[in-house]
Amino acid sequence: MNSGKILVLYKSKYGASKKYALMLKEELSCDVYRIEDSKQAELKKYDCIIFVGGIYAGGIAGLNHFRKIQKERQNTKAAILCVGASPYDKKAMDEMTKRISTGELRNIPLFYGRGVWDESKMSFKDRTLCGMLKKALSKQDPDTYEPWAKALMEASGQSCDWTDKEYLKPLIAWSRES
Ligand SMILES: Cc1cc2nc3c(=O)[nH]c(=O)nc-3n(C[C@H](O)[C@H](O)[C@H](O)COP(=O)(O)O)c2cc1C
Repeated sequence: MNSGKILVLYKSKYGASKKYALMLKEELSCDVYRIEDSKQAELKKYDCIIFVGGIYAGGIAGLNHFRKIQKERQNTKAAILCVGASPYDKKAMDEMTKRISTGELRNIPLFYGRGVWDESKMSFKDRTLCGMLKKALSKQDPDTYEPWAKALMEASGQSCDWTDKEYLKPLIAWSRES
């Protein structure tokens, strides 16, 4: 079991990434900070950082900030948990891994947790964006939808919370590897 100290940093707009960060705190007895507050954490004292961030339009919120932090730490153990509305989809994760695995984030493992979806709680801008996306998707044949598009159409108008500790199992196992 890894006895090193773990820090969890998160960036969350609608609460799912925060929820996963707090679940990790329970499981791993680690320290947890919003990435915006990472200056309050003494980064040097941690052997491993786990970054948790929501997926927005195919990108991970807060990732550039995390990149900067990793650049300063160099070669220290780290992982990313990205949180999206889609069910787990290996193809999408492989593509995301390819996209982000550059520079200081090369070789950093990427994990997935399913998050939340509630249009009634979204900002006006996000709701408008999602409305436009749904309109575009409604013109396509549903049989050709990618998993994220299918999930988005199914969740439309509902309040969904898919956060589940089960999603954290692979990440927790990784963190315990020496
Ligand atoms: C404008 C917008 C774009 C989104 N884009 C994606 C996406 O590309 N893929 C995905 O799986 N989920 C997408 N989502 C869903 C979010 O990832 C999901 O709500 C997640 O819980 C966000 O994390 P947070 O709750 O920590 O902010 C999007 C949500 C919004 C509002």
